[in-house]
Amino acid sequence: MDEFVRKLPKAELHLHIEGTLEPQMMFDLAERNGYELPFPDLNSVKEAYEFTDLQSFLDIYYQGAAVLQSAQDFYELTVAYFDRVAQDGVRHAEVFFDPQTHTERNIGFEVFMEGFRAGMEHAKVEHGITSSLILCFLRHLPGEAALETMRAAENHLDGVVAVGLDSSEVGFPPAPFLPAYELAYELGLKGVAHAGEEGPPSYIWSALDDLGVERIDHGVRCLEDEELVDRLVRERVPLTVCPSSNVALRVVDRFEDHPFPQMMEAGLVVSANSDDPAYFGGYVGDNYAALGGHLDFTHEQLATVAANSIESSFLSRDQKDRHLSEISALTGRSATRN
Ligand code: ADE
Ligand code: ZN
Repeated sequence: MDEFVRKLPKAELHLHIEGTLEPQMMFDLAERNGYELPFPDLNSVKEAYEFTDLQSFLDIYYQGAAVLQSAQDFYELTVAYFDRVAQDGVRHAEVFFDPQTHTERNIGFEVFMEGFRAGMEHAKVEHGITSSLILCFLRHLPGEAALETMRAAENHLDGVVAVGLDSSEVGFPPAPFLPAYELAYELGLKGVAHAGEEGPPSYIWSALDDLGVERIDHGVRCLEDEELVDRLVRERVPLTVCPSSNVALRVVDRFEDHPFPQMMEAGLVVSANSDDPAYFGGYVGDNYAALGGHLDFTHEQLATVAANSIESSFLSRDQKDRHLSEISALTGRSATRN
């Protein structure tokens, strides 16, 4: 990877911690926990990572997550992610987790939260990386289950900055999750939601108008709706875009076809993120490198993407300014943002 890309200070805002489970760790944890994986060996896992769409990925992703059982497992997963992206210039991460994937297996908030928090402390102490968590509701489950999850989370919100909405998108619009979001807002959290990855632009409108979210995860399909693009630009709603994920899950055919440049051109506040790096073959730095390699992004454009990532985060104005001046120092000019 280009030294500039690696050094560029950036925030990662669209990263599912369960999606950082590398095949080797999956096997090691399965063995430690006496869990039988549906894959005979490491090679067969990698072969299974040929996805045709979001659902074909999610089926495998949930199977993999089942090896995570103790606080130590969640800690090791979190540490491995931060140790990896410390090499990619990540200064701050807002990390998704899927509590229902674990509570449905009778693993409680106290278990995974302990592991996440210890891993985040490691990131701060060892790498100076700040982080917070985003609690995601699984949208293939009912809105009532999301509300129950939010109630169960009430006493475990240390380190959680927002709630989000993920899993299968088409056929699962945002509106039924309003009660869960309302409770989250009452508890002082912010809201984000996956929308417009495979789902239509109407899901992005609904995430904004029904759920009142501040940031859209993916959002690439907004380009099909001019009025929506105008609104996202006017209101500076950040979109956390994941280009390599979009290629792996066939949202676009090839990296060269990704609409990232058109999104920048339209004035949208887009950042580059990895989504589920262990499954899509690239961490956040690889996504920046691919924008350079496949779409000819210049260093200046990549610095704009990094500045957007900082600006799109839930950090304080002071913290953002500190990271933005670091970007400026690297590029030798004041950091421009979209
Ligand atoms: N969960 C993990 N990765 C996801 C994605 N790309 N879209 C929706 N849900 C997810
Ligand atoms: Zn995602």
